Amino acid sequence: MRLFHACAIALTVLAPGAALAASAEHGKAMFILHGCWQCHGTQGQGSIATSGGKRLAPNPLPWEAFSGFVRSTNRAMPPYSEKILSDGDLADIYAYLQSIPKPPDVNGITLLK
Ligand code: HEC
Repeated sequence: MRLFHACAIALTVLAPGAALAASAEHGKAMFILHGCWQCHGTQGQGSIATSGGKRLAPNPLPWEAFSGFVRSTNRAMPPYSEKILSDGDLADIYAYLQSIPKPPDVNGITLLK
């Protein structure tokens, strides 16, 4: 029981740091939960619909530009404050977008030749 308590305390103390250790899998869930997919596509591929969400992946913007935009945009996209999207969840979303592989080179697709 004492060991359990020690673990619980350790988890409580370490949790903020742990939340920042980015998880692409959790980020994908957050990308869906927070509705990013509605304008940017489920893979961050962008949208041709009127929502006009830009392509976010592969190769997302550098982290500073990415997080700065999400927090402070006042243009076509609504800003997401820390109250609704924590830094940890945003870092996970970024990890998810970074994990999306580049498409194959179009010249390597036999069917298109
Ligand atoms: C209501 C539609 C909508 C939703 C929801 C939305 N976006 Fe956007 N997003 C846009 C549009 C439109 C732009 C282009 C905006 C502009 O240039 O003013 C954009 C731009 C961006 C950019 C800048 C891309 C660049 O190359 O300049 C980032 C990063 C981004 N969105 C991330 C996100 C994330 C992360 C979420 C979810 C937390 C999200 N967006 C949710 C519509 C949306």
